[in-house]
Amino acid sequence: MSERKKVTLPTLFEKMAKGIPLTMITCYDYPMAYLVEQAGIDMVLVGDSLGMTILGYDSTLPVTMDDMIRHAQAVRRGTPNAWLIGDMPYMSYQPSDELAVLNAGRFMAEAGCDGIKLEGGQEVVPRVRAIVAAGIPVMGHLGLTPQSVSSLGGFRLQGRSARQAKKIVDDAKALEEAGVMAILLELVPDQVCGLITERAKVPIISLGSGPHAHGQLLIFHDMFGLYPKFTPKMAKKYGDAGKVISDGLRQYVEEVTSRVFPEPERYFRIKEEEYAELLRLLEQDAPHN
Ligand code: KIV
Repeated sequence: MSERKKVTLPTLFEKMAKGIPLTMITCYDYPMAYLVEQAGIDMVLVGDSLGMTILGYDSTLPVTMDDMIRHAQAVRRGTPNAWLIGDMPYMSYQPSDELAVLNAGRFMAEAGCDGIKLEGGQEVVPRVRAIVAAGIPVMGHLGLTPQSVSSLGGFRLQGRSARQAKKIVDDAKALEEAGVMAILLELVPDQVCGLITERAKVPIISLGSGPHAHGQLLIFHDMFGLYPKFTPKMAKKYGDAGKVISDGLRQYVEEVTSRVFPEPERYFRIKEEEYAELLRLLEQDAPHN
């Protein structure tokens, strides 16, 4: 394991104050979390995007708290030092403050998360206040909020008009006043993200919202060619793990079919005399006519 120090809230605010960009990534399982830890990424989000990237649903809506907890536990085992955020899935916080606090608490108690994220602006302020009052750090999420994709009219840029942009600025202010520790802006125009960042007292993280935020987030599977359905424009591909795996699988099929695999160094034999003895013992046991 690495020599890294545990990332804490003061670490994040110190970086923000010094103008050092914060790094954030989504992650869903142990082996990838291990690599994320080695790379020294500040914040890791176990996103409900796992419904699409890992579980193969068409949206994030079917994801349950139990799905999230199982994956958050695996990620925590792989990255003990990143600031780990559990993403509250659909209907885990919308119905009531009580349910929101109980489910946020599950991320902390069962998965060892450092905080949670939930989607929405002024309408979720009571939930944010209740969770923060329970001693749980909350990250807000504005702009394209995938749990509301139906009312937003699809996966598209948010805040294009002055009026829509003003609503996002006001929502950011409301979340900050409610006590969030950071705000994620997803697919918001660059200037709007810049304006919110300028005014913010907490770190603003951009996902497809330009360079002016205090930090950047990317979805792991988009970065490495691991989501077969599409790659959004905002995602930069840093490698093609999908191609590496796909080429390897084709070669495996080819080698098994042509009996190249397994090679002699990949299996084991007993001594010839032991094998001869085995045959003799079997012969002894065989019924004789
Ligand atoms: O679930 C997730 O990964 C997210 C990101 C899209 C921000 O919420």
